[in-house]
Amino acid sequence: MRKKLLLGNWKMNKTPAEAKEFALAAGEMVDFAVAHDIEVGVAPTFVCLTTVKENINPKCIVAAQNCNEHASGAYTGEVSIGMLKACGISWVILGHSERREYNGETSEACNAKIKALLANDMVPVYCCGESLETFDKGETKKWVAEQIRTGLAGLTPEEAAKVVIAYEPIWAIGTGRSASKEIAEDTIGFIRRTLRELFGNVAVDMRILYGGSVKPTNVREYMSAEDIDGALVGGASLDPVSYKGLIEGMVA
Ligand code: PGA
Repeated sequence: MRKKLLLGNWKMNKTPAEAKEFALAAGEMVDFAVAHDIEVGVAPTFVCLTTVKENINPKCIVAAQNCNEHASGAYTGEVSIGMLKACGISWVILGHSERREYNGETSEACNAKIKALLANDMVPVYCCGESLETFDKGETKKWVAEQIRTGLAGLTPEEAAKVVIAYEPIWAIGTGRSASKEIAEDTIGFIRRTLRELFGNVAVDMRILYGGSVKPTNVREYMSAEDIDGALVGGASLDPVSYKGLIEGMVA
């Protein structure tokens, strides 16, 4: 049985004071989610991780939006997995389309980070998804399969089982144009079959999230799809009232 997961991706939003305000407001809604068997989390910027971790309900996952695969050294501007661990962080989002586009993050680079995270008992949330051009050409599945194969290359089934996948069509991110439940379900079902080819039966228990303009008003529809195990939410995760609406929408 795969537990539903709601993860808020705050991107480059919120000062530490604003993040603290959210964290303090989130206590009851996290309990409400957990009581309904839903795992919830937020991914603040690096500078807000400690503030959020120290002020939010301990049942809430606090994730980073990136990490570096090296232990330490001359990597200006980077943050290591050991540093995140020292801040009590054990989840990291990788391969988000914005990082792929603006920071040149490749599936190969994600693969190295995923391996380093798994070696440190951390949970990688690996994002994949196609551009509008690829979608219009009907090449979504080919594109996403390549991202999955490369990003998870060399993992054992036991390791793969610990990875959370997020399918986010780029044309649906921040645009208000969410993918229909049918499109999301079709691609996510395909991702699960691809994972099964690569890793066997553990794929049945791997969580695959949908992301892209998920709102309190449409989250319920996605959750009704058999293969969709939760949501990675940007804009609608920033405000505690909206976040609560997402949780309520996920409650069956
Ligand atoms: P959005 O972003 O919910 O604002 O579309 C989703 C994401 O990029 O993770």
